[in-house]
Amino acid sequence: MSQEQWNSKLGFIFAAAGSAIGLGAIWKFPYVAGTGGGGAFFLVFLLFTLLLGAPLLLGEFVIGRRTQSDAITAYQKIALNSYWGWIGKLGVITCFILLSFYSVVGGWIILYLFEAIRGGLNGLSQDQFGPLFGEMISEPITTLFAQFLFILLTILVVAKGVQKGIERASKIMMPALFILFLLLVIRSVSLEGASEGIKFFLYPDFSKLTSEVILLALGQAFFTLSLGVSAMVTYASYLPKTQNLPKSMFSIILMNLLIVLLAGLAIFPGVFSFGLEPDAGPVLIFAVLPAVFSQMQFGLLFFIAFLLLFLFAALTSAFSMIEIIVAAMTRKDRSKRKKATWIAGLSIFVVGIPSCLSYGLMSDVLVFNLTIFDLFDFAVSNVFIPLGALLISIFIPLKLSKSELMEEISLGSKKRKVFFLVWYYLLKYFTPLAIVLVFLDVLGLI
Ligand code: TRP
Repeated sequence: MSQEQWNSKLGFIFAAAGSAIGLGAIWKFPYVAGTGGGGAFFLVFLLFTLLLGAPLLLGEFVIGRRTQSDAITAYQKIALNSYWGWIGKLGVITCFILLSFYSVVGGWIILYLFEAIRGGLNGLSQDQFGPLFGEMISEPITTLFAQFLFILLTILVVAKGVQKGIERASKIMMPALFILFLLLVIRSVSLEGASEGIKFFLYPDFSKLTSEVILLALGQAFFTLSLGVSAMVTYASYLPKTQNLPKSMFSIILMNLLIVLLAGLAIFPGVFSFGLEPDAGPVLIFAVLPAVFSQMQFGLLFFIAFLLLFLFAALTSAFSMIEIIVAAMTRKDRSKRKKATWIAGLSIFVVGIPSCLSYGLMSDVLVFNLTIFDLFDFAVSNVFIPLGALLISIFIPLKLSKSELMEEISLGSKKRKVFFLVWYYLLKYFTPLAIVLVFLDVLGLI
């Protein structure tokens, strides 16, 4: 059977942006920025996104479209009979662990949605949302059920196949999310005392820039772009040779940065205006956003709409995580797609149970002083993903010649020598060097 393909050029961009834009930009970015000191973190994140993330994104596109293969086979096709396939395997394993805790947060959105619709958020004052949310997510049965529901939705869509499932919906939901975020930002920056939050978010205070903050920013830059796990390799493998890869890369980087900026501007003014703490951790946006919405006309309705779109954004990312796993599992026999999706999804749920209970029953179970949820999150975001990114950035210039790369990038776009060279050298030298330096720095070795 020939490789499935996206329906349109825009379809691919929306699907890739759908993979990128999700909990990473909306949920994780604000809380990591909040813990990492605000503006300085944002600046470093921005630099990493442009100087490392963008080249790597294009690099993953190149591998995917050139090989038209899943994460594992792609590397094996380029470097015959070698161990390089392990880059893909590492990516598949990473996605597995990633989805196991990602789905926990997906479940939280579903729970909050129900709570909001049920009327449970009516009449709360600005500082009551956080404690209510904390209580909600400590309840084992309902949170597990919600996590299961999130995974179930993912399974149902992905089992149906790439195009029908993902493409159509993204084109409507993503622009809607932008618009709603914009409304939210307008309200948030006009709150009393908002300027302090804007300053916290945009003004870099370099005294807060520790080695660990730099590692977090690196991990975050890759995480929000779904890099390092060959997700973008898999998505680009469904592409025809006519797609303009550099243009797709720029659109995705731009959309992603825009959402990150909007998320920060929606949240931090609210945090300061309501006297909340920016370093509240993973619960941050769930405590702050409803408080901002409660200051709007029809706030509850808008909040419900926001949660729906937020859920959708999280789901499109989850689709791509499971898609990578399923594509790798069924690389020899495509007809097993449905079964593979169910097996992957259900085992991810089981592995995710301790993460879900980390906010309740298992909150005392600590490994390296972290809850299971935080441990998985740290390992995936700050170790496995940057490691995968490092290996990919070494692999590409090592196994593909300059002219092969130039040719692949020019398919579907104009030949642009300068752009190509900037990309090539950033990927070949700057990316691996920067990642190694960040690792060495955080380990205290330099
Ligand atoms: N980019 C996604 C988000 O921001 C998370 C993510 C990281 C991801 N790596 C991935 C999604 C791999 C799909 C595949 O929410």
